[in-house]
Amino acid sequence: MSRYHQYQKAFADIPKPFAYIDLDLLDQNMAEIVARSNGKRIRIASKSIRSVPMLRRILNYHPMLQGIMCFTASEALFLWENGFDDLLLGYPVVDKSLLLSITQAVQQGAQITLMVDSLEHVCLIEEVAREMDTPLLLCVDMDASVPFFSLHFGVYRSPLHMVEEVMQVVERIATSSWLVLDGIMSYEAQIAGVGDNMPGQSIKNGFISYLKKRSIRSIREKRARVYNELQRHNISIRFCNGGGTGSMTSTCQEDAVTEVTVGSGFYAPALFDYYREFRLQPAAGFAIEIVRKPKPNIYTCSGGGYVASGSIGKEKLPAPYLPPKAKLLSLEGAGEVQTPVRYTGEQELSIGDPIFFRHSKAGELCERFPALHLLREGKIVGEAMTYRGEGRCFL
Ligand SMILES: Cc1ncc(COP(=O)(O)O)c(C=O)c1O
Repeated sequence: MSRYHQYQKAFADIPKPFAYIDLDLLDQNMAEIVARSNGKRIRIASKSIRSVPMLRRILNYHPMLQGIMCFTASEALFLWENGFDDLLLGYPVVDKSLLLSITQAVQQGAQITLMVDSLEHVCLIEEVAREMDTPLLLCVDMDASVPFFSLHFGVYRSPLHMVEEVMQVVERIATSSWLVLDGIMSYEAQIAGVGDNMPGQSIKNGFISYLKKRSIRSIREKRARVYNELQRHNISIRFCNGGGTGSMTSTCQEDAVTEVTVGSGFYAPALFDYYREFRLQPAAGFAIEIVRKPKPNIYTCSGGGYVASGSIGKEKLPAPYLPPKAKLLSLEGAGEVQTPVRYTGEQELSIGDPIFFRHSKAGELCERFPALHLLREGKIVGEAMTYRGEGRCFL
């Protein structure tokens, strides 16, 4: 039976639209990620999962999966209330009331590490720690971008470009009696988050691969230098975090790295089809319903306009997945309430039938649906609430 028929049959009683996880494919992705980790711990990027039961399932899969990289302070508190620990804020928190709430959770035993990239961040957190008489854990975010002439290859986040700048912040933390340096993080977004195997773009792919190779060398050297500097200053840290799904292969080879962050690779959304280094299985998707047939080969569905964040491009649209040969129309794309699909395959499609799509990104799918229906061996075996389903919206 084709995968389309299998899914159609399994989900026949679920009203559309709905989102799902194919647990057999998720298992394959988890096995692949653990196999590629080269003995490094794997921290889960919760922004790419956005479901408490799914986070639990992934953490329980293998002992090398440990800890969570959260995306907001409120989310970290929510996860702690739900029994998770070793929560690293991946991004700075500058709201004092949230810092106070985090500190209260720390007083009650939570292990939450705050991200900083400047003396300003450090002073703000130190003030809260002093006020609350509670030492706080910090992680320093080192910039991993690599300029190429006028091109900024990387993301604009941390202003700590040079090792000396990182050490200045590190030393400031080391001299504070209220702060503890827990780790160093650097996220090589230009390797982890940029595909280098886009269809029909061989020149661009070649250029990106070249830039990625340069970046891999540069970030490896930078992390090794920070490691040496920390040793020279007799400063020990719990972790050195790097990477993302798309950079696992290179990040996990670095001696200085103790853990890699991975999120998207579990669901494997459409954007992650276009990497040379690996192939993951399309574990997550959603179905919309054909409600009209305005012309032969055109099937108009209800909903579907779940466009991903980031720079604007066609690749941010949801990707028609099953049946194969279904395509979006360039003039309409995926619509707010109606999405026409051109289909020229052999499958006979009727009003009421589903068309399965994959989101371009991982976690954003969960902002559109209250639950993920779980499929195992062609049968529904349960559902996992998303953050949205639990009435939570963190960003
Ligand atoms: C700080 C940080 N680390 C790691 C990641 C990797 O996450 P993913 O595996 O979902 O690409 C991201 C993604 O944006 C990130 O911002």
